[in-house]
Amino acid sequence: MNAVEVVQATKIFNAGRSDEVRALSEVDLTVGDGEFVALIGPSGCGKSTLLRLIADLIPPTSGSVTVAGKSAGQARRDQAYGLAFQQAGLFEWRTVRRNVELPLELRGVSRADRRARAERMLDLVGLAEFAGHYPAQLSGGMQQRVAIARALAVRPPLLLMDEPFGALDEMTRERLQAELLSICATTGTSAVFVTHSIAEAVFLADRVVVMSARPGRITASISVELPSRDDAGRQSPVYFDKVTEVRKALRG
Ligand SMILES: Nc1ncnc2c1ncn2[C@@H]1O[C@H](COP(=O)(O)OP(=O)(O)OP(=O)(O)O)[C@@H](O)[C@H]1O
Ligand SMILES: [Mg+2]
Repeated sequence: MNAVEVVQATKIFNAGRSDEVRALSEVDLTVGDGEFVALIGPSGCGKSTLLRLIADLIPPTSGSVTVAGKSAGQARRDQAYGLAFQQAGLFEWRTVRRNVELPLELRGVSRADRRARAERMLDLVGLAEFAGHYPAQLSGGMQQRVAIARALAVRPPLLLMDEPFGALDEMTRERLQAELLSICATTGTSAVFVTHSIAEAVFLADRVVVMSARPGRITASISVELPSRDDAGRQSPVYFDKVTEVRKALRG
């Protein structure tokens, strides 16, 4: 079963008003089970809007969204995906640990299990020592890493990530890219990953989906098969060919 099916989705904000915006126009997107799709396109082309439609945070104006065979609303209620968005979206009054535990609490996971899993996830993103801190005491990149830990904590079958690594330094970013790939590979997790970085898209994704400027449409879908997803892969001829192909598609 496909992880995501978006069929002919159109999103018009403020329809019929003078400030009407046609953000997405007849978008079709299928993400296979276990597939990693990167979404790339110019600022304002509707990438976040598309992700929010899949997450059922906003409804489409027309068209349909299915997640693992369920309606987007049912998938949200079943917590069928983990979310990490452009803004970290942490709760200021909860410690780092309790932010990561939140989706587990909502799922009724026992206290001991929550604690153990939060600790493992924080370790993964290099923030074990900050478990007792509050978000305001962390840098922007650290907050973003907490949001990633929170998204991964429920081990969701689908990850929806909106520029999750945008605020990170290059070394942390590469480490988390590797961690994310290994998590997805070992657990069969599917992903829709928005990024502005061609290099990141090509390195992470099985397929790079390119969107055009407003109204957002999908203009290319480029499959990527690197010999390996590591430093050697980043230096392979295929990698550079694909970077060039995506760059050309972005230029239109
Ligand atoms: N809630 C909203 N109300 C009105 N217009 C909106 C709303 N959300 C997004 N838009 C508009 O929809 C268009 C697409 O926005 P979106 O945030 O999806 O772009 P994006 O591709 O994620 O851009 P960026 O790369 O800068 O994050 C923009 O023109 C934006 O102004
Ligand atoms: Mg965006």
